[in-house]
Amino acid sequence: MPSVSDEALKNYLRAGAIAKEAREFGVAHVRAGITSLEIVNAMENLIYERGARCAFPVNIGVNEVAAHYTPSRDNNLVFKTGDVVKIDVGAHVDGYAADTAATVEVSTTRYANMIKSAEDALTMVIEMVRPGTPLSSIGATVSRTIRGAGYRPVENLTGHSMERFNLHAGLSIPNIETKDKSVVAEGMILAIEPFSTAGSAGKVGGRGRGPIYKIIRDRKAPSEVMALFGKMNNEFGGFPFAGRWCDKLHPNAEPLVTKMFRLGMIMSYPILTELSNGLVAQAEHSVLVTSTGCRVLT
Ligand code: CO
Repeated sequence: MPSVSDEALKNYLRAGAIAKEAREFGVAHVRAGITSLEIVNAMENLIYERGARCAFPVNIGVNEVAAHYTPSRDNNLVFKTGDVVKIDVGAHVDGYAADTAATVEVSTTRYANMIKSAEDALTMVIEMVRPGTPLSSIGATVSRTIRGAGYRPVENLTGHSMERFNLHAGLSIPNIETKDKSVVAEGMILAIEPFSTAGSAGKVGGRGRGPIYKIIRDRKAPSEVMALFGKMNNEFGGFPFAGRWCDKLHPNAEPLVTKMFRLGMIMSYPILTELSNGLVAQAEHSVLVTSTGCRVLT
């Protein structure tokens, strides 16, 4: 018995196909001399043109940046030869989201094995996921695969279960051995995302305000703030958003977003970098757990 409805499955499959197309577009177009904003705009436009919406801003992680970076409105970060670039993209159709990522090294192959170790770990996990698979053995498999290639898994980044309108539905899919007794169940939608690093820490950290936000709560605020907040609520709901997206909703969005942040109406995700500044690679697919295994959506 399928534990997702036909309607949900149809939407997940569409979201998955669109996120995949955007990811492939990004991978094909990253090269030295172009800006991350050009790539991100093209990928996000593609998602909308296909009839889906972004489940979060396209994340671009260059070198030691592992997650939660997206270019700002005036960003001019230019890719250089040798950069290790992670592209992480999410699309949703009516709240049903698919999340996927890939890593490209710009015009060199120095870190090809590190990138491959994350991809291989992802492949291994996809082969083992079925109802009853312990999360701890998923983590052990990721860790073994990446360490076997001479790199470290990033121990404090995880994959996640997803539900409608919810990117992090409670389950964390580890990239290292854990004592977690949870198991995979039929009907779950899982984003599986191994990260490998050449860094000695094998951990990421970050502080301060990043360029990606999420709405937390309504509060009493000046009417101009409330007007934009209402539009943002309609537009993004509980999904993460970029400050630059708000420019389409209000001519003077930037200071209003800052006000919302100070008032605690929105939160920001700090940019996460590897703690020893080591290079980081990522591979990610979203899957539906079936009765006998899993179906890759992306
Ligand atoms: Co994810």
